Order: sequence, then structure tokens, then C-alpha cells
Amino acid sequence: MDDVTIALALHVAFVVLWIGGVAFVTTVLLPAVRRLEAPHERMQMFDRIERRFAWQARISTAIVGLTGFYMLYRLDMWDRFRHAAYWWIDAMVAVWLVFTLMLFIVEPLHLHRRLFGQSEPELAFRRVEWLHRMLLLISLVTVLGAVMGSHGLLLFE
Ligand code: HEM
Repeated sequence: MDDVTIALALHVAFVVLWIGGVAFVTTVLLPAVRRLEAPHERMQMFDRIERRFAWQARISTAIVGLTGFYMLYRLDMWDRFRHAAYWWIDAMVAVWLVFTLMLFIVEPLHLHRRLFGQSEPELAFRRVEWLHRMLLLISLVTVLGAVMGSHGLLLFE
């Protein structure tokens, strides 16, 4: 089972890199951009800085997904999707799907420009801030659930 342990170690290391980056963007970068830039320049500035993180996040999500599905396959855990006590497995896959969609489809196609609009920069920036806060919150709840659940503290049993 050494391979599963290695997969878990890689899984957690890349979760740390990825969600840590989301925490940095949400709690440090976005507030700094808000403070330093005029409303109509904020989105541009944020785009330029976040582009570097987007690549890191793409690589991390790919490794987290591969190692996660590898563990499910090796430990044959597929039936867990049917039990409420294992909600945290569904949550991991859901968080992973949301980010994969954002990083590989929405972002590269510049859909966020359309989604967040260009005509009202203050509103657009506020939406980006709230989106990041929500993503960070669901990611942290998922981490809490995954660690508690995989160590035997199962809620909703
Ligand atoms: C396709 C997506 C994912 C799959 C298939 C997946 C699958 C798994 C599996 C099978 C385990 C081992 C559970 C056990 O030992 O009982 C695990 C552990 C873990 N996962 Fe995921 N995961 C995914 C995404 C994520 C995401 C997005 C996060 C964080 C937001 C996350 C956080 C964790 C953590 C922290 C653990 C370690 C729990 C521990 O051993 O203490 N995973 N994952």
C-alpha cells in the first residue's frame, strides 16, 4: 500500500499549495489591489498578477485530481459516494470540479470579463472578491471534513 500513501502525501502537498494560494489571493492580494488601485484599474492589475498563480493552480488541481482518483480506484472506495457520512468525498470532487472549470475553461476563454462585466468596475471587483471568499470557505470546510472523516470522525452517520 506504499503507493497509496505516496499518492496521499502528494495529494495533501498539492492541496496545501493550491488552497494556500487561494487564501493568499483572497486575504492579501485582493485587499491590496483594492487599496492601491483606482476602481477602473483594479481588474486589469488583478488579472496581470493572478495569471502567474493560475498556472500553479492548474498544475496543482491536475495533480490533486490524479492522486485523488488514483486513491479511490486503488482502495475501491466508489461506494462511498452513496453514503451521507462520506459527504466530504463528494465535497472534494465538487471543489475540484469548480476550480477545474474556472481554471481550464472560464479563465482561458476570458469568460470572466463577460461574467463580471467591464462597465461597472467597482461591482465587477466586488464580485471577484466574493467569489474568492466563497471558494476559500468551501475549500476549508472540505479540508476539515476530509481530515476528520478519513480519521474516523464521521458526521451524519
Ligand atoms: C477529484 C478530486 C478529489 C478526489 C477524487 C479526492 C480523493 C481523496 C481520497 C480518496 C482521499 C483519502 C481518503 C481516506 O484516506 O479515507 C483524500 C484525502 C484528502 N483529500 Fe482529497 N480528493 C479530491 C480533491 C480534494 C480537494 C479539492 C481537497 C481540498 C480542498 C482535498 C483534500 C484532501 C485532504 C486534506 C485529504 C487528507 C485527509 C487525511 O488523510 O487526513 N481533496 N482525497
